[in-house]
Amino acid sequence: MKRAAAFIASFLLAALPFGASAAGEQADAGSASEAARGKSIVVYFSASGNTRAAAEKIAELTGSDLMEIVPEEKYTEADLNWHDGESRTSVEKDDESIRPAIKPDTKNLADYDTVFLGYPIWWGTAPKVLWNFVEKHDFTGKTVLPFCTSHSSSEGESGKTLERLAGNKGTWRDAKRFPEHPTDDEIGAWVNGTGFALKK
Ligand SMILES: Cc1cc2nc3c(=O)[nH]c(=O)nc-3n(C[C@H](O)[C@H](O)[C@H](O)COP(=O)(O)O)c2cc1C
Repeated sequence: MKRAAAFIASFLLAALPFGASAAGEQADAGSASEAARGKSIVVYFSASGNTRAAAEKIAELTGSDLMEIVPEEKYTEADLNWHDGESRTSVEKDDESIRPAIKPDTKNLADYDTVFLGYPIWWGTAPKVLWNFVEKHDFTGKTVLPFCTSHSSSEGESGKTLERLAGNKGTWRDAKRFPEHPTDDEIGAWVNGTGFALKK
């Protein structure tokens, strides 16, 4: 009898914690994985929608919040005309000191550990709007993953330039370049490689 009681007691002792932790893991799988990965956000600027579409997919695949960098003065078709040496974007390209004004953030960057930072390639690098954004923010302690879309150019030095403008604060990964209309698979493959994909 004593032996039977001891057996039951030891079985219960062994089984209980297992059952309890399995149930606990199921109950808070989302918050546990967020705690491990930190809180993440996809911040992007997009003049004609390509980078926005990529940003939205990355946010979906990583379970990140989303924030658009919005210029105070929207870029018109004429502004974006790179054939015109006098267009707004041409003028901005030629003046290192220009920082186009941007609207106030809709999220507090201080709340996030990981920042996916998206932009179109303009003239082989990131638009001056991005220069303004990274100079205004403190990336200390954050992991930053720059990504961009372009017609054909590579990411070039765009990520390194933004890192330098951010005062070399934070841990910056190499920038990832996507085509203008990347497929879900192209984006998914990159996201999986970053280690920040949501667990299925
Ligand atoms: C002013 C301007 C300059 C551009 N310069 C380049 C370039 O140097 N190389 C390139 O491959 N594409 C260039 N593009 C094309 C954009 O990078 C591409 O269309 C991008 O996907 C646009 O992103 P968005 O729709 O998010 O604004 C340029 C576009 C504009 C408007």
